[in-house]
Amino acid sequence: MGELRVVPAAPSDLEVVIEILEEVAAWLETKGIDQWPVGSFRRSAAFFAGAIERGEVHLAYVGEDLAGTLRLVATDPDVWSDLADESLYVHSVAVRRSFAGRRLGRQLLEWAEQRAREAAKGYLRLDCVAGNPVLRQYYEDAGFSSAGEVEIEFKVGPGARGKSYRLHRYEKPLRGTGTEGPAAAGGQTAGEADWNEALRAAHPVVAGLRLAWREYRTPVGTDEGGARGERSFGLWTVVDNIVTLLGQLTQEDFERNDERMPYFGIVWPSAEALVMKLLGGPRLEGVKVLDLGCGLGACGFAAAHLGARVTFLDWEPRALEIVRASAREQDLPPEMLEFVVADWRDPPALERFELIIGADLLYEKRNAEAVADFLSRYLQPGGQAWIVDPGRPYARLFPTQARIQGIHLTAREVLVPKGRGPGITLLRMRKPRWRRLHRVQARRAGSAKPPGT
Ligand SMILES: C[S@@+](CC[C@H](N)C(=O)[O-])C[C@H]1O[C@@H](n2cnc3c(N)ncnc32)[C@H](O)[C@@H]1O
Repeated sequence: MGELRVVPAAPSDLEVVIEILEEVAAWLETKGIDQWPVGSFRRSAAFFAGAIERGEVHLAYVGEDLAGTLRLVATDPDVWSDLADESLYVHSVAVRRSFAGRRLGRQLLEWAEQRAREAAKGYLRLDCVAGNPVLRQYYEDAGFSSAGEVEIEFKVGPGARGKSYRLHRYEKPLRGTGTEGPAAAGGQTAGEADWNEALRAAHPVVAGLRLAWREYRTPVGTDEGGARGERSFGLWTVVDNIVTLLGQLTQEDFERNDERMPYFGIVWPSAEALVMKLLGGPRLEGVKVLDLGCGLGACGFAAAHLGARVTFLDWEPRALEIVRASAREQDLPPEMLEFVVADWRDPPALERFELIIGADLLYEKRNAEAVADFLSRYLQPGGQAWIVDPGRPYARLFPTQARIQGIHLTAREVLVPKGRGPGITLLRMRKPRWRRLHRVQARRAGSAKPPGT
């Protein structure tokens, strides 16, 4: 691959800038990532023409090929009114899909960082929609730290949609981190080299992915001596962010994998909310639990640490490899944990479960019916399902689809209220005991009598 070359865009480049941004917006929409609405860049062509005039918009070339664009601005009073000091601000970073998976997004951020250093700025700053955990992790992986959240209604530009946004702000301090010395010239100080080496050593690689250990802990009740207790556990999470994983997919993978996206690679906010709910709740001594679409298994491990016997199920073999690696680090009897790589639409023979937990499973239209069908087959009569969702559109259909399969919604509980992101809801569901279930089945079959009576 040729070297990345970044140049200011000329007025005649307006159309191609809009094209790249719209291409990425359309791709994000197909992935269900609510970051850039399709059409918003084309509608903001006048805004981008002005930004090009002001020298803010840049084009990135690999050899002779146009690969991406970004906007670098000297002030951003809408988002950073309280911290309007010595920074450059990055916006609208977009890499054409044909260049995906080559780390160009990260290189564009590095290029912007170098420009900020050269301009003797104290920070490089940027923001993203607070409810986009994927992008937030991407920026954190790129070395940006959180600078809090703000609620903004944009008046101009692609973000002007007549509504306010909750934005998460990120910044990277540049002073004392290599502004002086060899790093400023693109080199690396001895200290940085050691640090990078230490970081690499701290990240084991499993299933081709670099991992980092994450701990979850919550205070609970009081112990016998009257002191507050704590419940905690840890697991391996993936350092390589999901945007990179998505970027590594070729069109061929995409088609071959039946649109199987690497969503297993992060612990989603719904799972984190359920983990906290579980850790703060009663023990689950000996309860047979299934973590459906477990991803990295956070919910399952929370249940296991409360005494449950847990089966982790996901169709992504890499997810289960990482879950197994986490299991080896737990202080739990190995026979309490079981690992199943399977499609929930066509699972192998499994025993039935007393409790099925599932976080953020209803993100595709086809999932709601399939998950409802799975619950009806694999819950014990009288068993419960706890399904947690961050307000995905298809989740609305789920209680009805579940009822058709004989699974009833018994309670709806808000775990994270709207306002700090999209809001996260726990649906508690139950499969009736045999006698009632037979009545349901009989009703469905058009008979008034339960079978066998
Ligand atoms: C959005 S992720 C949620 C992961 C995890 N529950 C969490 O919240 O962190 C959805 C998970 O469901 C899994 N999944 C999607 N479709 C599946 C299917 N048909 N069978 C089994 N697992 C599936 C994905 O591999 C992924 O791990």
